[in-house]
Formats: sequence, structure tokens, C-alpha cells
Amino acid sequence: MADPLVTLAALLQPAFDAVAGRSGVDPVVRPSDRADAQANGALALAKELGRSPRDVAEAVVAEVRRRGDVRGTLEVAGPGFVNIVVDGSFLADEVARVAADDRLGVRPAARARKVIVDYSAPNVAKEMHVGHLRSTVIGDALVRMFEFVGHQVIRENHIGDWGTPFGMLIEHLIDLGEDEAAEHLSLGDLDGFYKEARAKFDASDDFKERARARVVALQSGDAETRRLWQLLVQLSTEYFNLVYSLLDVRLTDADIMGESAYNDGLSAVLDRLGALGLLTESDGAEVVFPPGYTNRDGDPLPLIVQKGKGGFNYATSDLACVIDRVERIGSDLILYVVGAPQAQHLSMVFDVARLAGWLPEGTDAVHVSFGSVLGSDRKMLKSRSGETPKLVELLEEAIARAGEAVAEKNPELADDAKAAIARMLGIGAVKYADLSTDRVRDYVFDWERMLSFDGNTAPYLQYAHARICSIFRRAGIDRSSLRAVVPQIVEKEERALALAVLGFDSAVADTLERYSPHRLCTYLYELATAFTGFYEHCPVLKADGEVRESRLALCDLTARVLERGLDLLGIGAPEQM
Ligand code: ARG
Repeated sequence: MADPLVTLAALLQPAFDAVAGRSGVDPVVRPSDRADAQANGALALAKELGRSPRDVAEAVVAEVRRRGDVRGTLEVAGPGFVNIVVDGSFLADEVARVAADDRLGVRPAARARKVIVDYSAPNVAKEMHVGHLRSTVIGDALVRMFEFVGHQVIRENHIGDWGTPFGMLIEHLIDLGEDEAAEHLSLGDLDGFYKEARAKFDASDDFKERARARVVALQSGDAETRRLWQLLVQLSTEYFNLVYSLLDVRLTDADIMGESAYNDGLSAVLDRLGALGLLTESDGAEVVFPPGYTNRDGDPLPLIVQKGKGGFNYATSDLACVIDRVERIGSDLILYVVGAPQAQHLSMVFDVARLAGWLPEGTDAVHVSFGSVLGSDRKMLKSRSGETPKLVELLEEAIARAGEAVAEKNPELADDAKAAIARMLGIGAVKYADLSTDRVRDYVFDWERMLSFDGNTAPYLQYAHARICSIFRRAGIDRSSLRAVVPQIVEKEERALALAVLGFDSAVADTLERYSPHRLCTYLYELATAFTGFYEHCPVLKADGEVRESRLALCDLTARVLERGLDLLGIGAPEQM
């Protein structure tokens, strides 16, 4: 069953707010045996207002009638419940309103914000693995949704392109020769390159010395060293771009704001913290002690801003980054789509930035945290050889597996159509498996499940969409002609589908409020399920006249919401499969 309750809650909220004299009252809409739903919000509100619950419930009903937000039967029952049965004609008008709207009923945000989404952020000369998949996919979905509701969105790819390992990486590059190194890296053998450099570093004092000297040269801006560093960055980002284009995400080179971009701001971080009296010297390092953090022994935990030997670190560049985002860009909402292990680091960075006044009132920095991707053994996902699997290999396997499924389902398709569909299906399956579980939880990477045409999966939603497209293709109907139709909402399944379609706006709002794409996934799954119920019980092409037209209009609108919803998740919806 689709969740009409969410829709009703959204429709009832303004009346509850009016009675309460404040915004954001929860109407507490719950399922009911006797009605479409019951709203129990008057009970809590009565306490707040010091009135009797029945009184408040009556006031809400009167307000709903006055505003005309919901047409139907509203009755106060029991201690102060409101039972609601909406009129079919009311649902029909609402559906027609949404069908005529290019935004499918999704309202623009009341207040547009300047939102920075920090996502993907792989490290130069290191392989992209499934952790980066999560950040990339979740971040990209949030980017699409924030843009859709009218916020100004700035993508930032905070790649790891600075720090001591670059000494050994550059020396290894010199040993290999630039051409040879370029060949390794462009093949995507990033981990191999890194490991070889590391092995030399561990084995040879001479190499170690060269690497150290190279870091100094890099930091002091030596031109040749910078050129070699730039080459490493470029070769790695070219490889990241291959993965991004496979994944169909919005990131481009223009979005790269790596750690090195903040080098010029690092000493200012130190100076400003010093001037504010926030710095403490500890074992020769400059640190800040934000209140509330302790180590295992209960001692205060420092955020290290400058290391003993004068070097800056990850925390320093993240502080410079906050300053840049707030003071130069003027962002008032900064989302860090970063794995759970960095929770403490980010929380300390945010706290220090607040103490220093770099995150003023009204500017929010949020850690959009996520869990791990696990193998079937519920341990960190490993490839057959026991290594962390390369993201690009996972994606290629997904497309290959989807290709088999498409060939089986629809053997008549032309080869290039098959390839295009396999790509949408395979990539969609991987992305959806990631997006559809609550991001804070771990999930098990399971090919069978994610590629299944049943259940809460991308193929199920894509198939529901393609099936509707095929109805129109078979009947040769121009879909756009249906968008002015006011449907007839009579059958139980028609009501359920109408209510589901009307829930798109609140599903998007709910997703954005919690930065949790799985909420949109759950909604789309419920919508597709409502459609299946409708399609099984309500003949469409076999119906006559106005009923046929009405049902075709419901089909069209369902397909549009599915397509748009998948698009907001970064997933394609083929017209046939
Ligand atoms: N490059 C880092 C990693 O792979 C993630 C960076 C996240 N963003 C940030 N502003 N710290 O773990």
C-alpha cells in the first residue's frame, strides 16, 4: 500500500498550525479501520493550548472546512480524534492540479539557501572504493533534490591531494619515468602505484630521504616538484572522471576543491585562532580544546592545528575550508557527505569553527554520515582475491549482469538499445541499493537482491515505469493530451494510487529535511506498489470512454512521478526494457 497518510498529514497541517498559532504542528495521521485515516494531533495540542482535546479537534475541523484544504467527511470521534474520508472528487481535482504542473506538485523551498555539498572526495593516487561510492551517490542525489526545490547548490569535491605521502609518490613517479607512470595510473592501477611507492619507502633509507626532501620542495613551491605533483593529480582525476561518467553523476573538474586549495589559508587559521586566544601549546603542537571531547582516560581531546615540526594537517585544511565556504562563497548550509568514521573529526572542526565565529548563527554545517558496505559475510566488502574491490570493476560487473537480465527479458531489442538499457539498469541497481537503505546504517552488497525485479529495487521501479510507457506505445496514445484530464477516482485502488501520487511533494520535503534519500526511495516503491494494485484491478485499455481516459491519465502521471523521482536519485528510467 502506498502511504496516503503522509499526503493527508501535509494537507491537514495548515489547519493544525492555524489552531495552534504556530507552525510545524504534527497532525499525527494514523491508519483507521473506519476511514481513510484519523488525525490524532489534537490530543497533544490540547495539552499545549490548555483546552479540551475535543474542543481542539472541533476547531481543527472547522478550520479545514474554512480553508477548503481537504474536501471530505471529517468527524470528531472518541476523546478527540478526527476521522477523515476524502471525497473522490477532491482527490481528482488534486491529481489534475499535479498533472498540469511540470513540478508534479513539488513546491519550491520557502527560503532558498546557498547550499554546498561536499561529496565523493577520493584521494589522489589511491583507488576509489565503495566508501567513495556511497559519498558520491548520496551526495549527487542530494544535489539534484536541493536544486529541484530551488536552492542554489555548489558541488565541492574535496579530494585528498596534499600531505606527506606526496613526497614518496613523486619520487616513485620520477623512478618510473613520467610516461610509464602515466600508463599505470591511467589504467586505474592507483593502489598498485601507491603500494610500490610505499614498499620502496619502507625498504630504503635512501628513498625515504629523497621522499622527505621532496615534501619540503613541494611545500616550498619548487616549480619542477609542483609540476610532477600536478601530473599525479591530473592522472588521478582523469581516472575519477571515468568513474563519474560511468556513474552518471554531476561532478566535473570545475567542482574540484581539494585539500591543496586551502594551502594559502592555513596560516590564517593559526593566526586567527591565536588572536582569539583559542590556541594552546601541547607537546610542541598548537591545538584547540573544544569543550566536550575526552579521550579514553578522560583527558580533554585536542584538535591539532599545527604539528610539532610546523606542518599543518587535515583538521587545519578543514578549518580553512569552513572559512572559505562561509566568508568567500557565502554558503549558509554546508553538507559533508562523509563516512561515519570521520564523525569526531568533523564535529570537532565544526565546534572549533563555531567557537571562532566562522560558523555564524543561521549557518549550518551538517555531517551527512553514512555506514559501510558489507559483503555477504557481513564484514567489509572484499573482492575474490581478498582486496578491497575497485569501484570501477563493481560498476562494470553491474552493467554486465544487467545486460544478461535484459537479453533474457527482451531478446528482440537491438544491440545498442540493449546496451543502453543494461547500463541504466546496472548502474541504477547499484545506486538504488545504496540510496534505499537508511544512510546511517551499513548494508550488504548483494547482486541478486539489487538486480531483482521484485522488491524495493531500481529494476522494479524502472520496470513499473517501462510498463506504463508500453501501454501508451501499444495504444499509440499521445501522453501530453492527458494532462488536462480530471480523473474519476472511484475504485479503492484508484483512491490509493491518487493518494500515492499526491505524496510526492511531502516525500521530497521529508527527504531533504533529513538529508536521507532512502525516504524518497520508500515513497517511490510505495507508489509503484499502488500502481501494481491499480493495474491489476482496474482495466485501462479495455475500459471505455471517460473511464479509459481517466485511467490513462493516472498511468501517465504515475510514470512521470516515477521518472522524475528516479531522476532525483540520479537513476535513469528507460521507456522499454
Ligand atoms: N578525502 C577524504 C577521505 O577520503 C574525505 C574528505 C571529506 N571532506 C572534508 N571536507 N573533509 O576520507
